[in-house]
Amino acid sequence: MSRSDQWDDDSRAERVADGFERLFGSAPDGVWAAPGRVNLIGEHTDYNDGFALPMALPQSTLLAARVRTDGRLRLHSAQGDGRVTDLEVASLAPGAVPGWAAYPAGVVWALAEAGHPVAGADLHFDSTVPTGAGLSSSAALECAVAVAYDALHGLGLSGAELARIAQRAENAFVGVPCGIMDQMASVCSTAGAALHLDARHPEQHGHVPFDLRGQGLRLLVIDTRVTHDLGDGAYAALRKGCERAAALLGLPALRDLPPGELPRALQSLPAELAPLVRHVVTENARVTEAVARLQEGNAAALGPILTAGHASLRDDYRVSCPETDLAVAASLEAGALGARMTGGGFGGSVIALVRAGLEDFVGEHVTAAFAAAGHRPPHLLTATPAAGARRLAPPPGGPHPVLP
Ligand code: GLA
Repeated sequence: MSRSDQWDDDSRAERVADGFERLFGSAPDGVWAAPGRVNLIGEHTDYNDGFALPMALPQSTLLAARVRTDGRLRLHSAQGDGRVTDLEVASLAPGAVPGWAAYPAGVVWALAEAGHPVAGADLHFDSTVPTGAGLSSSAALECAVAVAYDALHGLGLSGAELARIAQRAENAFVGVPCGIMDQMASVCSTAGAALHLDARHPEQHGHVPFDLRGQGLRLLVIDTRVTHDLGDGAYAALRKGCERAAALLGLPALRDLPPGELPRALQSLPAELAPLVRHVVTENARVTEAVARLQEGNAAALGPILTAGHASLRDDYRVSCPETDLAVAASLEAGALGARMTGGGFGGSVIALVRAGLEDFVGEHVTAAFAAAGHRPPHLLTATPAAGARRLAPPPGGPHPVLP
């Protein structure tokens, strides 16, 4: 971590701790951060037991937390409507908590469900992860709670175990059938590297150096501002389609279909399932290819892999939309080495890999293309691979004793 990032962390932690104290009357036990993510390649592969290559963003959710001994869970967000949501840990139940508070409350519920003796808490969040942009603001919320509870109660869970708890909160408490990629990226990333995820064995993840600056590259993130919502059924339908295809092929998951057997498999499958399978199998291969190029120190070679991934998501998986397609096309036209939508799709963000110095030009070209097409101007940011979830300010006196 650079000195200025450290300074940023410290000053944000102080602000969030101050906010906590104003709100709840005394200092927090500690402050934690969990980042959002972009996925470089490996989309819609995680719930097929496949591979992905996400990286954490510098944008993160900060959480100031203090344990309570009366079983109450009080939640406040600096980005919310000013109200404090007041819940009881013992009464948490799937579907019972509306809005953003369901994500953090779901993590407390999932920890309790998994047999961890967890207490109530006062939680104050302050996030710089854009919401609804496909950059995993929900995973950042969940993972901040998971790492804070792990530290406050001395649970000693691994990064992959915390990611599973956060995923379970989203699947079973919030009701979104997501895979584990976003939570793994938020918890297990390291600065300067992409996370090589094998979703069948999340514990065995690796870190692949991704030295954008050193190689004269920039990663532009283009938020199309088309809100994506994974809860609307399309994501669940795709997931079901993949599971049905795997069952028809007699495989535990699509990850188990070797690329050499793809042509025969495609002929045997119903027409609506074949393109899904083609995407998943070729996308897994793109992850392996991307990791190999990064390990050779050739990050620029990711460009064509990203663009091929977008074509597959657009034509086979059909989760792109006119705005993401336009952002990709305009980026390439302006000289990007490669571009693709990132995340679940149906809107959200596009990433474009560009030579350093070209990022403003590419951003302006995309913005002009959006204006010409009558779309709202996109939001632009430049991403560097950041650290995963971490404690920013330690609780005085070590972890709290676990309460009965
Ligand atoms: C969303 C989900 C992830 C993953 C991606 C698509 O971000 O939360 O689990 O499935 O979509 O790759």
